[in-house]
This record gives sequence, C-alpha cells and structure tokens, in this order.
Amino acid sequence: MIGAPLLSVRGASRHYQSGDTIVRALDDASLDAHAGELIGITGPSGSGKSTLLLICGLLEPPTHGEVCIRGRQVSYPDADLDGLRAFRRDNIGFVFQKANLIPFLTAAENVAVALEIANVAPQPAHDYAVELLEALDLGHRVENRPARLSGGEQQRVAIARALANDPPLILADEPTAALDSVRGRQVMELFRRIAIEREACVMVVTHDPRSLDLFDRVIELEDGRIVSEATGKSAADPVQPQPFILK
Ligand SMILES: Nc1ncnc2c1ncn2[C@@H]1O[C@H](COP(=O)(O)OP(=O)(O)O)[C@@H](O)[C@H]1O
Ligand SMILES: [Mg+2]
Repeated sequence: MIGAPLLSVRGASRHYQSGDTIVRALDDASLDAHAGELIGITGPSGSGKSTLLLICGLLEPPTHGEVCIRGRQVSYPDADLDGLRAFRRDNIGFVFQKANLIPFLTAAENVAVALEIANVAPQPAHDYAVELLEALDLGHRVENRPARLSGGEQQRVAIARALANDPPLILADEPTAALDSVRGRQVMELFRRIAIEREACVMVVTHDPRSLDLFDRVIELEDGRIVSEATGKSAADPVQPQPFILK
C-alpha cells in the first residue's frame, strides 16, 4: 500500500486486573491500515478482537501504546477520550453485532439522527438518509420501524447510519453474527463495496471463514496477540465493484 496510513496502531496493549491475575486482552499489537482497504480480524472467542476494535475506535484507551488516525496521535494511556467525541463522530463509523436501532424511529429517522447530531438540518438529513438507504437497497423500507425489518435489513440500516457522516474509518464487530449465511455474505459484500467506492478503511471482526475471500488482509489474533497477517484473496484477484451510488 502506498501513502500514509489512515490508522496506525503501535504497541497497543489493554490489560485488565482480575483478582490477582492480569488479563492481557490485547498485547503489544501494531498495525497500519489504509484508505480503501477491507481488513478482516479473526481469532477464537476471547482472543482480543473486540478490544482491538474498541481501541482503534477510541472507545477504550490502551494500557500501553498509541493509536494515530490521519497522522494525529489520538489515543494513548491517560488520553482524554471523552474529549474526542467530535473527532470520533467525524472520522469513525461503528457497526456492532446487533443493529441497536432506536425502536420508535423509522429506518430513515434512525439514519438521520446521526446527521442531526453532526448539526445537519432535519430536511437535508432526512433526504440524505433516504438516499443512503436507497443505495443499500432499502428504499422500500425507509418508513418502517425496526420491528418491521428483518435482521439483515436492520443491519443494513445500522450500516447506513455508520456511513452517514462519511467517516474515513469504519469498524464493525461481528456484524453478520446474527444473520444467515446469504444475508451475512451480502453485508460483507457491502463492506467490500464501501471500501472501494468510498475509499474508506473498513475493519471487520468476523468468525465466518466463508467471507474471508473478500478481504484485502486478514489479521489473526490469539491470546491478545497478532499471530498472523495474511494477504487475502481479493488483493490478488480484486472484486469488481458494482455500480453503486454512495457519495
Ligand atoms: N472489561 C473487561 N474486564 C476484564 N476482562 C475483560 C474485559 N474486556 C475483555 N476482557 C477479557 O479480555 C479478553 C479478550 O476479550 P475480547 O476482546 O472481548 O475478545 P473477543 O472479542 O476476541 O472475543 C477476554 O479474556 C475477556 O474476558
Ligand atoms: Mg468480541
């Protein structure tokens, strides 16, 4: 990869005290991630995948080490992560295992909320939310509340919400775990397209080996340590992007 990394993690550890023992949830992890890359993070349960993502997303500080985003050192032990709320909002989109949509809002309103928090006026926020949902094949669902959406549809609304502020870094923690294999594959293909067409850096934690062909790189964790970093199939045989209207 050419150019400065969008995300750079250097020697990041996260240790928890548990009684007399120290749990090394993440241990001396370093990685660089670039715009346009789709990176998979795998490893057994408890290997530190979520911890790595939380540290990259500036939701947890590392016990040791540092995180730089767009060349700025933003996270290190004792950094004021609360003070980075606006930075997070503008630079990072999160997608979790469960869509966590607001139940009494429609799909469009759930997405528009993310824009309104960033001070976009209600009408343009609504219009762009609808546009994003249409791009994710949810144009017929914009007025539905979450209870009237399938699991896959809810997860696509959550992805639209994560994309709303056009963040350069998108972090997803097992976003397909609650979906069947067909829907799960569709969501992973969507991340692939987002990385290519928005030139976003997308990091996805996944247990599902069936999607690994879509990734540029797969980082494997074991006991909190990065044990391998394999180049995925798509780097050698790139997936051709479909026409896609995301701005
Ligand atoms: N807040 C916490 N307090 C104590 N231990 C934790 C905490 N968060 C995570 N851990 C431990 O750190 C390890 C890694 O957790 P996690 O990052 O959630 O793994 P994964 O996402 O790969 O399943 C696990 O052993 C987990 O129990
Ligand atoms: Mg996890």
